Amino acid sequence: MENITLAIIKPDAVAAGNAGKIIDRILQTGFKIRASRIIHLTRGQAEDFYAVHRERPFYDELTTFMSSAPAMPLVLEKSGAVEEFRKLMGATDPAEAEKGTIRKDFAKNKGENAVHGSDSDENAQKEVAFFFAQSDILGNF
Ligand code: CMP
Repeated sequence: MENITLAIIKPDAVAAGNAGKIIDRILQTGFKIRASRIIHLTRGQAEDFYAVHRERPFYDELTTFMSSAPAMPLVLEKSGAVEEFRKLMGATDPAEAEKGTIRKDFAKNKGENAVHGSDSDENAQKEVAFFFAQSDILGNF
């Protein structure tokens, strides 16, 4: 599992018409897309996905935003996928994100920050399973 991660192109980026540019950036960086879909999360689904942040002050804002419009989850493959995608994504706050990162170029603020990426191999496994059945994913993991 160390070669896959779950990415989400968040509602702000999809609504702004930036999904194509972000996918292009992902492919140009050497990731292979093993599964993709577009989904308008319900509030309950957003709450379940981000359950680990339940006690955080931004949980309500985060789950309202993530269920506000369609998003695009992707299963990405690359050696060291979790770490590699976190590098490409940039810091949570776009004001702190490095030049050339997706969040630097497409995120508005800490909340509406264009993309999500798994933070560990263990969470990647859980997050992939949240959106995809094994039969939706190309290749054998
Ligand atoms: P993500 O990688 O999807 O994981 C958790 C999300 O919580 C994070 O990106 C941000 O979008 C959001 N988040 C983190 N900190 C804040 C904050 N201070 N205010 C609003 N949203 C936040």
